[in-house]
Amino acid sequence: MKIQTTCVHAGHGPEETTGAVTVPIHATSTYAYRRFGEHRGWEYSRTGNPTRAALERAVAELEGGADGIAFASGLAAIDAITDLLEPGDHVVAADNLYGGTYRLFTSITQRHGIDVSFVAAADPGAFASACTHQTRLVFVETPTNPLMQLVDLSAVAEIAHRHGALVVVDNTFLTPVLQRPLELGADLVVHSTTKYLNGHSDGIGGVIVARETDLGEQLHTVQNNAGAILGPFDAYLVLRGLKTLAIRMAVHEANGRSLAGYLAANKQVAQVHYPGLAGHPQHALARAQQSGFGGMIAFDIGSLDRARAFCDAVEIFTLAESLGGVESLVCHPATMTHASVPAEERRRLGINEGLVRLSVGIEDAEDLEKDLARGLEAAARE
Ligand SMILES: Cc1ncc(COP(=O)(O)O)c(C=O)c1O
Repeated sequence: MKIQTTCVHAGHGPEETTGAVTVPIHATSTYAYRRFGEHRGWEYSRTGNPTRAALERAVAELEGGADGIAFASGLAAIDAITDLLEPGDHVVAADNLYGGTYRLFTSITQRHGIDVSFVAAADPGAFASACTHQTRLVFVETPTNPLMQLVDLSAVAEIAHRHGALVVVDNTFLTPVLQRPLELGADLVVHSTTKYLNGHSDGIGGVIVARETDLGEQLHTVQNNAGAILGPFDAYLVLRGLKTLAIRMAVHEANGRSLAGYLAANKQVAQVHYPGLAGHPQHALARAQQSGFGGMIAFDIGSLDRARAFCDAVEIFTLAESLGGVESLVCHPATMTHASVPAEERRRLGINEGLVRLSVGIEDAEDLEKDLARGLEAAARE
């Protein structure tokens, strides 16, 4: 089946007792046993809940994996993956990650005796140099947040597997509609469902998809042990969002391309980071490993004052953290999403004070372009 069909039907059919065509919200903490020693497949909702299970199956199916495991947030999902590690293990992570993921990895080093090396995301050679026989996990986002650099997934997976390490890809930015990391060699895919999978900015959640059943079972054990589960109401919202994921992504993509082109043609904008532009240094890789470029754009407007003027002047783009909803958002990574990355490290990476990030929504492209023009005019007055 094509992805548009899978989005609508993955993880469930009509409900067995009533024929309900959508998955019911199973708002229950516990389940009655049939008789002593005989439960009905469900015991307690931390361990398993039918609404959450339907979402876990759906995302697993969309990513082409064996199992899905859903959590209370994207970071809870990433934290659960770190539970697979032991003191003395080594992690190689791309140096351009969501700020919270960076903070999680740096705190692991300090608390649990796990060594983390951060390497240049766009350079497979840097992964090869950093991997040792202690490396247990290689963790990447592609495109990176917020600089839209790409990790060559096949190359990095080959390097990691040569060292016996697992490859984890945060696929939040592109979703399985535009990129399928398991097909390129990843062992685990993780999402902040808060973003595109939910798509409506009305819930926080996370999910991991495991390529193999064994790893999926280990992560279900972590999920049950630590208990950071996704509740049934939030699972339902993500299931509802998934049904329109493919059509939403098509509009995010069309609007993203159009606005990236508009920004690139504007003299006030020093640099546009969008892999769909022919001038992006990894445009060829984007074409090869992605089936689209998505709706995330970052651009450099030159200074903190200009970034502030732009963000305050736009009217449709809402100044807010997060991304991937139907509504367009603007954010200033240095003071918002990436404030937890030390200033020196931010500068080294290129997350400077003039960098602005857009999550392009599904509104009309011309209206969005006019809004950007409003922001750029205000910035020009600075
Ligand atoms: C790429 C990426 N991964 C993970 C996360 C963390 O997800 P959550 O906020 O749902 O914990 C975010 C949050 O912004 C993100 O952008």
